[in-house]
Amino acid sequence: MATQTEVLRQLIKMAPDYCSGDDLAHEFGISRTAIWKTIQGLQSSGYTIESRHGRGYRYVANNQLSAPVIQAGLPSGVVPQLVVLPTVDSTNAYLKRLASQAPLPQPTVVVADTQTAGYGRSGRSFYSPESTGLYLSIGLPMPAKESFDPGLLTTSTAVAVAKTLTKLFEVQVELKWVNDVLVNHHKVVGILSEAVADLEAGQISTIVVGIGINLTTNDFPGAIATKAGAVTQQTTVTRNQVVSTLLAEFFKRYQTYTTGDFMADYRRLSMVINQQVELKRGSKKLTGIVKDIDSTGALVVQLPSGQIQRLSSGEITKVNLLTGAYHG
Ligand code: BTN
Repeated sequence: MATQTEVLRQLIKMAPDYCSGDDLAHEFGISRTAIWKTIQGLQSSGYTIESRHGRGYRYVANNQLSAPVIQAGLPSGVVPQLVVLPTVDSTNAYLKRLASQAPLPQPTVVVADTQTAGYGRSGRSFYSPESTGLYLSIGLPMPAKESFDPGLLTTSTAVAVAKTLTKLFEVQVELKWVNDVLVNHHKVVGILSEAVADLEAGQISTIVVGIGINLTTNDFPGAIATKAGAVTQQTTVTRNQVVSTLLAEFFKRYQTYTTGDFMADYRRLSMVINQQVELKRGSKKLTGIVKDIDSTGALVVQLPSGQIQRLSSGEITKVNLLTGAYHG
């Protein structure tokens, strides 16, 4: 590991306390001048390291995304490969390219400060300005015998996101089937899962779960201006903290997600159960009352005819048609 990263890790571990130059020099077997140069290198890479005469150096968290800082916030069992980029077309597209070149040896997470071509469901673009949002994708290798359930993976991801937001911010989170996360009736997070196929083996080699969070983003472009919102207006919680917490919550559920053991949490957070909704499925539109979300993540809808229909895909376009409380 390069000295810079080692020194950074030590400073993060000791924060908010100071580390003396002498102690650092001793710990890493280099001179105090070399430590001072290393600190300067970290500062010019964007880290805030305060120095104080007689006390040494200390790490102060800031808004810059950083792999070592995210890593330091992860529980010991969670060790994905982390790639942090200042800019990318799309973190999902980046991971799909990576996974189609060679199989991912381990879960791989790509986080970007901004995306130039972020996208969502149905080919819509995902607004991804720098500094105020979080755009990340989790690449999951799929060994040949492993079973994969797209419905449950998406719903368990939505629960992981909701838990992260309620843990870190004072917000009430609602889920709009299947994967929209709302705060104050506005969409603050979008989730998009995609598969990479291994054509020679004739099977899926990788799943890419993309998550876009409007953390403090406010000025949304025209088409989504009334529907999208920010998690919070301002916060002292850093984006690195959000990523670490989200990855911990995601991987905690990933081990058993195919059992649907998180569905009780999903239902509790759902804002569509017992509501009249309008749904779009391909080119078809239908309305009905949502009776439940079943253990496979499918929407159970009672149609105006009284007939019950289970939908494992589609999109809710309107909720609360009767009261008008929310129109998605
Ligand atoms: C949707 O609401 O339709 C899903 C939006 C998903 C956006 C995220 S941002 C990170 C990842 N990269 C992308 O290009 N899309 C996903």
